Amino acid sequence: MLDHGQAPPLSQEKRKPVNPLLRRKPVEQLVAEGGQGEGGTLRRSLTMWQLTMISIGATLGTGIFVVLGEAAPKAGPAVTIAFIVAGLTALFSALSYAELAGSVPVSGSSYSYSYATMGEFIAWVCGWCLVLEYAVSVSAVAVGWGQYLNELLDGMLGITIPEKLSAAPLGDGGFINLPSLVVVLLAMVFLMRGAKESARINTIMVVVKIVTLLLFIGIGVLGIKGGNYAPLAPLGITGISAAASTLFFSYIGFDAASTAGEEAKDPKKDLPRAIMLSLGIVTVLYCLVAFVAVGAMPWQDFEGTEAALAQIMTDVTGGTFWGVVLAAGAVVAIASVVFAVLYGQTRILFAMSRDGLVPKVFAKVDEKTGAPRANVLIVSLFCGALAAFIPLGELANATSIGTLFAFALVNVAVVILRRTKPDMPRTFKVALFPVTPILGFLACGYMMYSLPVATWVAFGVWMAVGIVVYFMYGVRRSRLATAEM
Ligand code: ALA
Repeated sequence: MLDHGQAPPLSQEKRKPVNPLLRRKPVEQLVAEGGQGEGGTLRRSLTMWQLTMISIGATLGTGIFVVLGEAAPKAGPAVTIAFIVAGLTALFSALSYAELAGSVPVSGSSYSYSYATMGEFIAWVCGWCLVLEYAVSVSAVAVGWGQYLNELLDGMLGITIPEKLSAAPLGDGGFINLPSLVVVLLAMVFLMRGAKESARINTIMVVVKIVTLLLFIGIGVLGIKGGNYAPLAPLGITGISAAASTLFFSYIGFDAASTAGEEAKDPKKDLPRAIMLSLGIVTVLYCLVAFVAVGAMPWQDFEGTEAALAQIMTDVTGGTFWGVVLAAGAVVAIASVVFAVLYGQTRILFAMSRDGLVPKVFAKVDEKTGAPRANVLIVSLFCGALAAFIPLGELANATSIGTLFAFALVNVAVVILRRTKPDMPRTFKVALFPVTPILGFLACGYMMYSLPVATWVAFGVWMAVGIVVYFMYGVRRSRLATAEM
């Protein structure tokens, strides 16, 4: 029996000196270490529904409430088709995530899958990309939340937070982005209470956002005018594909359940289900909302309308009440993305810390709450400061490229693990293997290729920093390295 916080010893076979960059962490070791942190263990308390809610929490937010307004003028009424196309792209990778989450149910998500299959260096690169997907995107989403809150306050009470207090210095002309900082700190306070409590709060917020969207569908449908759907695709296939690339952002987050592997009650069974279910639920909601939205408002009118869904509610009902309800729902929805994504980032760093690639403090577990509290504190302060003081600009765009890179690696990891461990028990298997993961890989590659040069430059700089950090720290501190000595 192992003591809390003590990882199982590595076998002789794993002590063979290998190229540090290629050393792999055996799947058995990853699974055996599940939950163990410094001085305590994470608690297994999450059910399948709570896991599904974590994924929906991290996914459904800015994309449908804000980005839909940017995509509609690109695709016209065919924006619904663009949502389906983006959803299919996400689906290929979601299937790969589901297979790996069911067979390697740990908290590191694609970082851990890469460690087991492609070696430490690729795993580090993947983990570094996940910081873009999670930490940097939390900050970007928090900034969007502040803007939405300002609009709500303006619409409801006619007050706005002064620019000095609602924008970052340098470039954005403010002094501090206070609303963004506040939403991150609020999320931190709740995350400090541990996974069970976090899941409860997350579920409440997810229910609020789903109900808000159902209300939109129920009321918005009354305003549909058949003429608004014609012509269906005024800007052709090019328009649909441009809109689909933009809308891919709205699906990011379905993988968040895979960061909860060590807090799930029955991870092997429930993680794959949660990932697939959350993707199914958000796809249906997105398509219905988009269909109603472009039916109720001519697609050209979306240009420049910041809160299109609230505007539609106001137009259809002829009063401001439902518009304000919708805007308030959006504020909760976007806050819930901040919350769930922040949760994911802390758990990924937890796994990386246990492997020695980032400092041990990230794996320290608080005895009383079972939460990695120091980790939550550091990550929240980092994300809060980023949102409050840094104009994120291109780095925020780079979140999509980082995410796509991590997704691409997951598709590769599925193929490798099927070859290296063909007999390993799998609770979920990708259909049409290997066609699906290959298509997933190609789809991610294509979407990365379509992103602007500036985004690639930001990504290149980010990765260069990550590689320097690895060679200065991780390569020597890695637990696999110390086990070899
Ligand atoms: N998918 C997340 C959102 O739309 C990032 O806010």
